[in-house]
Amino acid sequence: MTTNGHNAKIEQLREMRAKSHAGGGPDRVKRQHDAGRNTAYERLDILLDPGSFRELDAFVRHRARDFGMDQADFPGDSVVTGWGTINGRLVYVYSQDFTVLGGSLSEVHAEKICKVMEAAMKVGAPLIGLNDSGGARIQEGVMSLGGFADIFLRNTLASGVIPQISVIMGPCAGGAVYSPALTDFIFMVKDTSYMYITGPDVVKQVTHEEVTHEELGGASVHGARSGVCHVVGNTENQTLLLVREMFSYLPQNNMEDPPFLATKDDPLRADLELDSIIPENPNKPYDMKEIIHHIVDEGIFFEVQPDFAANIVVGFARLGGHSVGIVANQPTVLAGVLDIAASEKAARFIRFCDCFNLPIVTFVDVPGYLPGVSQEHNGIIRSGAKLLFAYCEATVPKLTVTTRKSYGGAYCVMSSKHIRGDLNLAWPTAEIAVMGPEGAVEIIYRRQLQSAEDPAALKKQLADEYRQKLANPYIAAERGYIDDVIVPSDTRARLINGLEVFQNKRDSNPPKKHGNMPL
Ligand code: HXC
Repeated sequence: MTTNGHNAKIEQLREMRAKSHAGGGPDRVKRQHDAGRNTAYERLDILLDPGSFRELDAFVRHRARDFGMDQADFPGDSVVTGWGTINGRLVYVYSQDFTVLGGSLSEVHAEKICKVMEAAMKVGAPLIGLNDSGGARIQEGVMSLGGFADIFLRNTLASGVIPQISVIMGPCAGGAVYSPALTDFIFMVKDTSYMYITGPDVVKQVTHEEVTHEELGGASVHGARSGVCHVVGNTENQTLLLVREMFSYLPQNNMEDPPFLATKDDPLRADLELDSIIPENPNKPYDMKEIIHHIVDEGIFFEVQPDFAANIVVGFARLGGHSVGIVANQPTVLAGVLDIAASEKAARFIRFCDCFNLPIVTFVDVPGYLPGVSQEHNGIIRSGAKLLFAYCEATVPKLTVTTRKSYGGAYCVMSSKHIRGDLNLAWPTAEIAVMGPEGAVEIIYRRQLQSAEDPAALKKQLADEYRQKLANPYIAAERGYIDDVIVPSDTRARLINGLEVFQNKRDSNPPKKHGNMPL
């Protein structure tokens, strides 16, 4: 073959690559931009380190012939797949291309995604999916449905092996929502992404309710009400940068430790503000996030699901460079009570941390589980048990700091010593008892209070006595349920020391196929 022949072949390759890269063509790319959205490649450029993306299967073509599909010529079809790096660490990616047949999922689209999923599991690298699709490709019928099922199976098999992150960047409807739902974290973009099982038209037909796409399944709905979405970004770019940020806390797979990031923040830093942060009045709220910010490296806390079940706070931070998962009751919202939503939110986060070797640091100030007909009828027993199960089952290092209240069943649940807490610390302001003083006094002194001349004064006196005797950390500390009562400003140093002591902890659960978590 002549050199000219080679050159022609190289030219042909360039042309084919350019055609694949062009997606659905300039008109559809313009429509995508006009809708405030980037193309599949543009998104990958923001997500990944510059120049790190290596594409796979750019020449794959769909196989449909009916419904005019023999005329549809889109090399690469409607998804871009491959690998790249985030801060130098390998990640597998797919990015659905809405400009090609609405990003709809064909047989080969599914095959491309399954290929990167399997490769990610084989080499132990996280998978990030950028979703923007009209769902099953209508022209391909059952081949498309089968493709979805192939993806669901791999999502499930990869769960707990590699971190899986889904980013919703456009429509995600019908059964298509179940692939993101099976992954560890869902990110959504405000105003331009939505997820639902059936769209507004079907909802109107079936239930006569009239809603917009946004009202039914926008980022604000799933970020604050349903709890389906974990992180909401204001724009596509910001959302992708948030993915990069979360990624920095996660290990590559279940066999690795999370990345260590050296910090200039002194591990022995004593934050004196912590010594006066708990109000004198035990019923006055304070912001637990402020405590977290005072304690963690450089005050940086990556919160997950900030607007859903805000009575419990979960997220990632670093302590002395070690990546940790934080779970904390939030006294400013519903007094930090545990309800159905909070239990489920925290349980899922704890299980993620346990899958991926992230120590769990728990801050406790909880008055108990939320009483009420609606909570009981909607299954607080089952949901509360999820949180208990998740904490009991977790074998990663578990460090607990009780700042104030730890009452009733919630004492047992919130990473107590009894359920394998490794280091249980309490501040002197901690109150650990079966219930709060007022409630306890009303039950155990009911008769005396009924016959008292001044019931209010007697109640106050009895409650003060109760608090003195029982609502403090020392009874638990006498039994060893609390390892130490510490000065609040020492908390950072004590937690970092605890992480270093327990980092080589070995613990396991009895051999079994899997437990039967109360789902
Ligand atoms: C084939 C599709 C498609 C689909 C969109 N397109 N969805 N092609 N199969 N599912 C094509 C359109 O024909 C159009 O092609 C292009 O994509 C852009 O679509 P538009 O409708 O012009 O875009 P827009 O107005 O932004 O509306 C987007 C949309 C809408 C809301 C997603 O297209 C839509 O409702 N699509 C159908 C959604 C759906 O019901 N999918 C099935 C869900 S059930 P041209 O050539 O004009 O650019 C499902 C089952 C999964 O997914 C089951 C798993 C178990």
